Amino acid sequence: MLESKVHRVRVRLSARDDYHIEIGPGALETLGAVARRSLSPYARRVAVISNRKVFNLMGARVMKDLRAAGFAATYWLMGDGERHKSLLTAERALDFLTKSGIERSDAVVALGGGVVGDLAGFVAAVYLRGIAYIQVPTTLLAQIDSSVGGKTAVNTDAGKNLIGAFHQPRAVVVDTETLRTLPPRELTAGWCEAIKQGAVGSRRLFEETRRFLARGTSLSRARSRNKLLEPAAASADEVVTMAKLIAAQCAFKAKIVVGDERESVERLNHRSRRILNFGHTIAHALESVTRYKRFRHGEAVGYGMLAAGEISVRLGLLGASELESLRAAVSLAGRLPRANDLDESAILTALSSDKKAVSGHVQWVLLERIGRARIVNGGEISPRIVRSSLRAALAA
Ligand code: NAD
Ligand code: GLY
Repeated sequence: MLESKVHRVRVRLSARDDYHIEIGPGALETLGAVARRSLSPYARRVAVISNRKVFNLMGARVMKDLRAAGFAATYWLMGDGERHKSLLTAERALDFLTKSGIERSDAVVALGGGVVGDLAGFVAAVYLRGIAYIQVPTTLLAQIDSSVGGKTAVNTDAGKNLIGAFHQPRAVVVDTETLRTLPPRELTAGWCEAIKQGAVGSRRLFEETRRFLARGTSLSRARSRNKLLEPAAASADEVVTMAKLIAAQCAFKAKIVVGDERESVERLNHRSRRILNFGHTIAHALESVTRYKRFRHGEAVGYGMLAAGEISVRLGLLGASELESLRAAVSLAGRLPRANDLDESAILTALSSDKKAVSGHVQWVLLERIGRARIVNGGEISPRIVRSSLRAALAA
């Protein structure tokens, strides 16, 4: 594809960490050129980290493109799923890099969803004290969120993402065509995160996302809530609109990251990177009580946003009609797994051990309106309000 057809979003960090996100249908074809442009002129080898499912779909194209650009490209496949985002997998990947003779001027390419991206980014952050990497996200969640901003991590028994590093990629290549093979639940999960980004920071982005979902294409999945109406195939026009929407989502994420790259604990205003955790306090508790088996992360965020919205209304911060808009948007994202059978007390207990607590208190991201978030210390919210909000959200 012509590079001119790709949307380009700049992540304006310090001169050393400044990079671009290339977004568009077919953007994968630009990977070799992007790698040449963004890596060191001394880069000779590139190690692609992926999983079998994704590599079978697009690995051959990626390898061909990198080799055509003059790189000695090799690949290493990790297991599929959250449980493989571990120190053990990282160790094996590091071993692969060592045996492949990857040098400081060489690079890693992360090809896959957020699990591959976080793991490969972490490995790139620690190998030889940090080498370059390029994110090639292939899920909606990874394209609009996890591939942008340099958070890398692995999970341990103590919890998710507790071991990690901030390490910015040299480039992000988002091929929206890769989403055509994504299972519907993964799309729903990604759309929930997209709604979140609009809800916390931009009414315009929220509306743009909602309008796209209301179209009911195979990529938005809105109509799949009704079994009688199968989603329509996405037309060329819809694919173009979707690429524009994903670019807008990436631009929003980039803006937040640039304003608060390392998620400062002191920052409490609406520009804090922490606003991206809207819905995550309850989401982590839901994932934990269901042992990460019932919800995709974004689906749990769907319920989490509704609960945080309910709290915001009960505290008098948010108007009831704004909560209705949020509820309508989440329902357009797709059907969420059932949650009204879960034990409220167990969820509340899991909440209190949230790893993102500051000075012992959960930090709630709440809404003042669609497009404006506020961080509120959990010590200021009565447990009665949290319980009734949770009940209302899970009944949805
Ligand atoms: P995932 O990486 O597990 O991918 C979901 C599934 O889709 C997997 O089975 C994967 O193999 C498959 N898949 C990927 N691309 C596909 C394609 N094009 N076609 C068909 N199948 C495809 O899940 P995810 O939702 O992408 O990422 C979740 C992870 O992201 C979590 O570990 C979370 O902690 C992390 N995350 C990180 C950040 C960050 O800022 N670093 C932000 C949000 C989430
Ligand atoms: N997804 C949260 C962040 O990047 O900060």
